[in-house]
Amino acid sequence: MKRIVITLILICVGAVVAADQRRDPVSDAVYPAQRLPLIFSHGKHLARGTTCDACHPSAKTSQSAVDNLIPTEAACRACHAIDRSQPDKAGTPVAACIGCHPGYTPDTPVQRVYVMPATIKFDHSAHARTSCETCHGDMRAVDLATTRQLPTMASCFSCHTDGSQTRNCTRCHLAKIGGLMETKFPHGDLVPKRSSLGDEHGLGFSTDHAQQARRVDATCNACHDRSECVECHQGVVKPADFHQANYLLVHAGEARRNKPDCSACHRAQTFCIACHERSGLGTRGDTQFNSRDPQQQFHPPGWASQGMGPNLHASVARRSITSCASCHREEDCLECHSAEPGKLNVSPHPRNWRGSARCEALDRNNRRMCLRCHITQDELGCNWSK
Ligand code: HEC
Ligand code: HEC
Ligand code: HEC
Ligand code: HEC
Ligand code: HEC
Ligand code: HEC
Ligand code: HEC
Ligand code: HEC
Ligand code: HEC
Ligand code: HEC
Ligand code: HEC
Ligand code: HEC
Ligand code: HEC
Repeated sequence: MKRIVITLILICVGAVVAADQRRDPVSDAVYPAQRLPLIFSHGKHLARGTTCDACHPSAKTSQSAVDNLIPTEAACRACHAIDRSQPDKAGTPVAACIGCHPGYTPDTPVQRVYVMPATIKFDHSAHARTSCETCHGDMRAVDLATTRQLPTMASCFSCHTDGSQTRNCTRCHLAKIGGLMETKFPHGDLVPKRSSLGDEHGLGFSTDHAQQARRVDATCNACHDRSECVECHQGVVKPADFHQANYLLVHAGEARRNKPDCSACHRAQTFCIACHERSGLGTRGDTQFNSRDPQQQFHPPGWASQGMGPNLHASVARRSITSCASCHREEDCLECHSAEPGKLNVSPHPRNWRGSARCEALDRNNRRMCLRCHITQDELGCNWSK
């Protein structure tokens, strides 16, 4: 006997847990946090055959999320013999104040139920042909309903499937003047956390969103004005915290690692080269440096040689060739790396280059680049040898 009871309890608990977990959590910017100081069980009332309409009669006709559909005490009085002059009145179903108002004490105000309107455009009457459960889930195992019983965006998309509807964010979301989505609310910001639109703003998102922003169906424009991107991306306004204060002194290290990708915000051709040339570092203009004079070398010793040697530049160039291009022209490299007969012919290619997929791809996409160095007919493609 005992065993059966326990099993039953486990099944019940299991059902509750399962019902609870099946409903995904929802955005607290769309559905603000609630206070529900009330004792109430949807499950128990539904089990007795009470319908949603008995307590939420206006749900079928409501045309706006601003409407309050939470029942007042009057809805309970249909069955509960509440008498405000008899706080402890016995009765079935319960009539004593404390039966519904937790912690009720006479002569102190009862705590009120507090459900702020959802910040969404929603018209119940336009969905009156859809059953309540389609959106609010199975309520039979629910006691107090919470925001978990309110529908997810994904559930709306199960009917509003056509792209022109799902991409039209302000069909459902509130809009600002100008048409962008309203994202600032007194109770919190609407920042994507689990929208499943591929735009989740996680930790480090402020500088690590390249992948999300490059998607063809990127949502960024729905909430952000271009000017907010330009703050960082064109360097017009300096975001106070993007580079550290003495960045000029340390930028070389990041540039050599190419992390973050400088080209996301700067054009090497103008921004970097111009300053390097002004600073006398550009090899296109005048420079006080001279690699042939050990006293006047710009790069550290062992940077490059005409043959054997540490050739430190090799590994840095492999990692970030664009950082070299912020000072050098192609010609500077061809001095040693050209395949032209009579030149040094130092191969700039990585090991196992011949016949490799990477070689083939580069050759296919831009053979003219190969022709900068390989100027003879017998050196075309990726499989020639001498
Ligand atoms: C198509 C989906 C959908 C259907 C069908 C639907 N609802 Fe809702 N319901 C919502 C959404 C979205 C909200 C939140 C916005 C709002 O309050 O209007 C909500 C909110 C509510 C609320 C809380 C309102 C408040 O005051 O904050 C109640 C109660 C409710 N619905 C009851 C019902 C009942 C009863 C039915 C069936 C007659 C029903 N709903 C059918 C989507 C739906
Ligand atoms: C259609 C009739 C009906 C309406 C309307 C109704 N109730 Fe009830 N309620 C009952 C009955 C019958 C019980 C007894 C259930 C039991 O003991 O199994 C009950 C039990 C309860 C209980 C005790 C449940 C428990 O856990 O033992 C609470 C609390 C309650 N109702 C709150 C409310 C509130 C709040 C409202 C109004 C929003 C309300 N009821 C509206 C019929 C109703
Ligand atoms: C069967 C459940 C139930 C019982 C019993 C009950 N109430 Fe309520 N009462 C409610 C519900 C539901 C509301 C609406 C929720 C809200 O507005 O915060 C409410 C609201 C109130 C409010 C605020 C709204 C108004 O109408 O002024 C007061 C005050 C109140 N109840 C007092 C009492 C007192 C006093 C008792 C005992 C004599 C009592 N209630 C018994 C369910 C109940
Ligand atoms: C006996 C009365 C009663 C019945 C029947 C009832 N509700 Fe409720 N409902 C309430 C009360 C009281 C609240 C406010 C307390 C709470 O959140 O549970 C509420 C709240 C809600 C909310 C708001 C959730 C939130 O916190 O925003 C939804 C949604 C809801 N009910 C849907 C339904 C649906 C769907 C049905 C039918 C399957 C239904 N209710 C049947 C009394 C009832
Ligand atoms: C069961 C299918 C279904 C679900 C689920 C559904 N809708 Fe709808 N919705 C419709 C239909 C049908 C219409 C009316 C035809 C139309 O205007 O496209 C509609 C119309 C609308 C409209 C335009 C109403 C107007 O003012 O004319 C909005 C806004 C809307 N739905 C929002 C939502 C939101 C938000 C959700 C999720 C909480 C949702 N819908 C879930 C089927 C659904
Ligand atoms: C058919 C109605 C509908 C459309 C269209 C819609 N939304 Fe939503 N959206 C909702 C509802 C309802 C919620 C609240 C439920 C939730 O949090 O899942 C929501 C929640 C969200 C959230 C909060 C979820 C999170 O990540 O924390 C974001 C962000 C969001 N929407 C962005 C968008 C964007 C961007 C678009 C346009 C590409 C869009 N929505 C189009 C109905 C819609
Ligand atoms: C549903 C609206 C919404 C969508 C869609 C959205 N964002 Fe945001 N985003 C926000 C909000 C709100 C903030 C916080 C802004 C604040 O704190 O002022 C934010 C913050 C940011 C920040 C940090 C800004 C800073 O100065 O630290 C970046 C970067 C950003 N978003 C980029 C993107 C990109 C890229 C996309 C597209 C993949 C995108 N966002 C899509 C609402 C959105
Ligand atoms: C806080 C500064 C900041 C803001 C604001 C910002 N970004 Fe970025 N963004 C970055 C950084 C840093 C990177 C480089 C990340 C890397 O190393 O890949 C980047 C990279 C990108 C890339 C990839 C660059 C490429 O070359 O393909 C795109 C696309 C992008 N951001 C779009 C946006 C959009 C759209 C917005 C406005 C919604 C925005 N960003 C706002 C800092 C920012
Ligand atoms: C998210 C955009 C962004 C990225 C990515 C970025 N920068 Fe910047 N950078 C800026 C902005 C904005 C300024 C200030 C604009 C100005 O002064 O014109 C700036 C200024 C600089 C300056 C001038 C600093 C000074 O104090 O005068 C240097 C040098 C610089 N960046 C180098 C780099 C290098 C190297 C990288 C790659 C490792 C890089 N930046 C990546 C946005 C970015
Ligand atoms: C405001 C002027 C200025 C700007 C803008 C600037 N640099 Fe520099 N850069 C310098 C100066 C001065 C040095 C030499 C001092 C040093 O090595 O720290 C230097 C050195 C470097 C070095 C080190 C070379 C070596 O091997 O020692 C690299 C790499 C570099 N810059 C990359 C970049 C890139 C990439 C950008 C553009 C995203 C950039 N710089 C923008 C002034 C600038
Ligand atoms: C900030 C500017 C700057 C950057 C960035 C830079 N260089 Fe240089 N580099 C110079 C200057 C200045 C010289 C000396 C020019 C001369 O001798 O006329 C030089 C000389 C050289 C030489 C000549 C040989 C030697 O021993 O010095 C090589 C090879 C070279 N650089 C390779 C590279 C490579 C590869 C990169 C990228 C990893 C790079 N440089 C990045 C400014 C730069
Ligand atoms: C003074 C001659 C000289 C100059 C000028 C020179 N390099 Fe090199 N480079 C070498 C030598 C020698 C090696 C080492 C070859 C080896 O170890 O197999 C090398 C190796 C490399 C490699 C590595 C190839 C591999 O094995 O993966 C790269 C990339 C490279 N250089 C890029 C450059 C770039 C970019 C420039 C111009 C900015 C440049 N080099 C200028 C002599 C030079
Ligand atoms: C910066 C100059 C330069 C560029 C650009 C260049 N190469 Fe080379 N490549 C060389 C040099 C130098 C050698 C060594 C020549 C030798 O050993 O005689 C070489 C060797 C090769 C070899 C023989 C490799 C081996 O391991 O024996 C192949 C194949 C080759 N290059 C293909 C290409 C292709 C395809 C492209 C264009 C995608 C290309 N190269 C671009 C300079 C270059």
